[in-house]
Amino acid sequence: MNKTPWYMSAYFYQIYPRSFMDGNGDGYGDFIGITQKLDYLKSLGIDCIWIQPIYPSPMADDGYDISDFENVDPRFGTLDEFKQLIDAVHEHGMKIIMDLVLNHCSDQHPWFQAARKDRNSKYRDYFVWSDTDQKYLETRIIFTDTQKSNWTWDEVAGQYFWHRFYPQQPDLNYDNPEVREKMKNVMRNWMKLGIDGFRADAVPYLFERDGMNNENLPETHNYLKECRKLMDEEFPGSILLCEANMWPKEVRPYFADGDEFQLGFHFPLMPRIFMSLGKQNASSLVKILKDTPEIPQDCQWCTFLRNHDELTLEMVTEEDRQWMWSFYAPDPEMRKNLGIRRRLWPLLDNDPKKVALAYSMMLTMPGSPVFYYGDEIGMGDDIRLYDRNGVRTLMQWDDTKNGGFSPADKTCMPVIDDPVYGYKKINVAAQEKDPESHLNMIRSLMLTRKASDALCRGKFEWLVTDDENVPVLAYIRESEYDKVWVIQNMTDSDQDFIMDLPEGKYYDLNHPDYEISGGTGITVKLAPRAFYWLRKK
Ligand code: NOJ
Repeated sequence: MNKTPWYMSAYFYQIYPRSFMDGNGDGYGDFIGITQKLDYLKSLGIDCIWIQPIYPSPMADDGYDISDFENVDPRFGTLDEFKQLIDAVHEHGMKIIMDLVLNHCSDQHPWFQAARKDRNSKYRDYFVWSDTDQKYLETRIIFTDTQKSNWTWDEVAGQYFWHRFYPQQPDLNYDNPEVREKMKNVMRNWMKLGIDGFRADAVPYLFERDGMNNENLPETHNYLKECRKLMDEEFPGSILLCEANMWPKEVRPYFADGDEFQLGFHFPLMPRIFMSLGKQNASSLVKILKDTPEIPQDCQWCTFLRNHDELTLEMVTEEDRQWMWSFYAPDPEMRKNLGIRRRLWPLLDNDPKKVALAYSMMLTMPGSPVFYYGDEIGMGDDIRLYDRNGVRTLMQWDDTKNGGFSPADKTCMPVIDDPVYGYKKINVAAQEKDPESHLNMIRSLMLTRKASDALCRGKFEWLVTDDENVPVLAYIRESEYDKVWVIQNMTDSDQDFIMDLPEGKYYDLNHPDYEISGGTGITVKLAPRAFYWLRKK
């Protein structure tokens, strides 16, 4: 019997709730809207929805600045409606996780308001204060475009406060036992409502210590282990997904001995998928996978192509960053912090072959894939919008007003309406009807992978030996019951890939009509950007 936990081979789908679907017609995405679209998500084969922050928030960082950890923002609906969404997700046989933002809150949170006003308030110590901004200078700045320091002077408080993100997001002080306990209670409350776990935001930054870079400190790991213990003991079967934008060897400790996070995003893999496609050479991908340590049994990486943030280039060398910027973000407006604020399809020239190849890589490499809403239909971006909003525009459901997102005259975000990516052309309804559509192409790849035990959870073995020159990226995935040979042409030209394939006849999982015979030193002929997922007949 297969005892692999569900999340080891799951599909996650990331919903940005503001822009997904407006169910009550006020122009703002909401719980009712998401509930209406669950059949669609089910039809994609999604196992788990990750809903981005829904807490009350002044929206200085799109909901990652939380002013009340115990409630939902009324713009999304009521707590009852959220509960109905959770129940409906479960009725659809799916799961739902939400963002847990431990590191910081909003400067409008009553804790911060009380803290800044009164040095003697117990809340003062809920935050990190200093009389000088010359402390913790070894700590890097994350929002490089807008922040010059991790300290901001607060007039009311008469001191500087510490923040790793915007100044509207003061960091909580995890040296304070009450903070530690209160945030555990936040977890408890949402778990009791029935969700299945959390995507834990910005976890490397919880504690600060003099003379350190203040990332991944042992104290932070200890606290996160306590959180996991709580989840296991009080809510068995729940999951924690780690957001640590770090090198694989630094993310590895977040899995600990299998007693911290079950899941962790593989950040460095993502830009290397784009680099491989752009350079027509998968060398950087091979190297990062070779540098990725083993993780404990029942732990899993999460792979992704894009998300709601800029395509982060924090985990590439300076040289590669410059290359990525000049290739994928020639217009400086496309750049944000250390990344690129564009969506998948515009990045890949709106070319279905390149996009399919990107999905092939994500779907066949080890990890549970996380899909970003709208990428499955080929949505575009709008770089004229502020910050990262350009990749957070309205989901395009059909060709009616606002792309079917809302009947309202005014919506919370603009809908994309250009001739190439606009909702009249790119929308779910039209693509459902067209067997050749982006949606059906991606859905088909997803369903094919889902049906392969080897691709979902098999072990990984390289078929390429050269680390420098990798025009064809090839590997084997193998489980007890299943074995698949994955061969992918990164280039714009025909490629002959010579390999050993045990005797027998093979077919391509995506095109069962394709047949090739095994043998020693056989040649697999690949058209430009073509890929095969081969299985023995
Ligand atoms: C990571 C989130 O993905 C990002 O959107 C946010 O700005 C920061 N964490 C701060 O919470």
